[in-house]
Amino acid sequence: MSRIGRLLETLAPIGRNEQGGYDRLAWTDADAGMRRWFLAEAASLGLETEVDRNGNLWAHWRRQPGGGLVVGSHLDSVPNGGALDGPLGVASAFAAIRSLKEAGETPASNVAVVAFVDEEGGRFGIACLGSRLMTGALDPDRARALTDREGVRLDDAMRAAGLDPDGLGPDPVRVASITAAVELHVEQGHLPIDGSDAAGLTAADAPLGVLTGIWPHGRWRIDVVGQADHAGTTPMADRDDPVVGAAAVVLAAREAAILEGALATVGRVEVEPGAVNAIAARASLWLDVRGADEGRIRRVVDRIAAAAGVDPVQESWTASMRFARSETRRIAAAVREVTGSEAPALPSGAGHDAGVLQAAGVAAAMLAVRNPTGVSHAPGESADLADIEVGVAVLARLLAGFPASGTATA
Ligand code: GLV
Ligand code: MN
Ligand code: MN
Repeated sequence: MSRIGRLLETLAPIGRNEQGGYDRLAWTDADAGMRRWFLAEAASLGLETEVDRNGNLWAHWRRQPGGGLVVGSHLDSVPNGGALDGPLGVASAFAAIRSLKEAGETPASNVAVVAFVDEEGGRFGIACLGSRLMTGALDPDRARALTDREGVRLDDAMRAAGLDPDGLGPDPVRVASITAAVELHVEQGHLPIDGSDAAGLTAADAPLGVLTGIWPHGRWRIDVVGQADHAGTTPMADRDDPVVGAAAVVLAAREAAILEGALATVGRVEVEPGAVNAIAARASLWLDVRGADEGRIRRVVDRIAAAAGVDPVQESWTASMRFARSETRRIAAAVREVTGSEAPALPSGAGHDAGVLQAAGVAAAMLAVRNPTGVSHAPGESADLADIEVGVAVLARLLAGFPASGTATA
């Protein structure tokens, strides 16, 4: 089996649940297992490892004054997520370095592998936590006070995992040292290929694609308050049931998204107190809306507010971004050299640490590996090993060819 095949096999048991999905939420035992794997793999490659002030993991192949190329992704998952969203980018980076080392190659520029902490926000609700903290896009006090569903604070979770949350905060020197960043990622969905009718890499018959940018994305919380009462004694006409209001929100979200050509998801609902035989006092919903432009996202949220009579509170907003032309061109050239074909260009509907870096002025880009099902954030996420191996070869080409002084421009 190939190096990358073996590496993915070593990861397969970590955080796997009975449904075949993965629970690798930040600062849990599974996350710790993934982090140990990172450090062990880096050590076996002779890389110098480091945990930064925000808990992000780094493995340096060459580290001298000046800039360099960073490759990697994240190791955490959403609850019951897939095997590849995140770890594929990290494992591919290690496999690429191993192949270059075995061939006796040394990089002309600094090279580091990164695993950003808590990219999915699956536990504390804010995505790309590690990269946002590092670039100063997230206030460390706000991060420390975030709580998970059990009420555990992020700073306590970090401390329990052996890290010091007092150190959280911006890392401008580190950010300035990143000339370019490349994140290899499993394809998510089958989004339209630029300049073609094909939807996704399978339809385009291509193992790899280059991501051009990331759609804007917002998360809102909606609270519907009602009147708690007895399920067996309150006439239907007299009820003020917040779960009925919550249902109206879900239906309004679907209709508004269809009307606006956007994507709206209510992926989390909490009902209090949550008794089968009691009308609830409150229902809270978390709404995720994305689309090709900000205008349609804002219109979706306005439509939901008007149709369901609710007041959505924005919890996060990520503006649309385009990846660095210099780096997308560099990836496209490497794909051409390795496969002899052009890599289709397509957008990303999912958020990524590479997007946070790009927004902070780092020249970032992403390489997507074909996902036949398109499924992501769920156990059905997949990619063929043969396609992954082509992705590793492209990464190796990028690492070997990255210029000494770093000529990337954002
Ligand atoms: C992260 O993967 C997101 O897009 O929610
Ligand atoms: Mn990801
Ligand atoms: Mn994800």
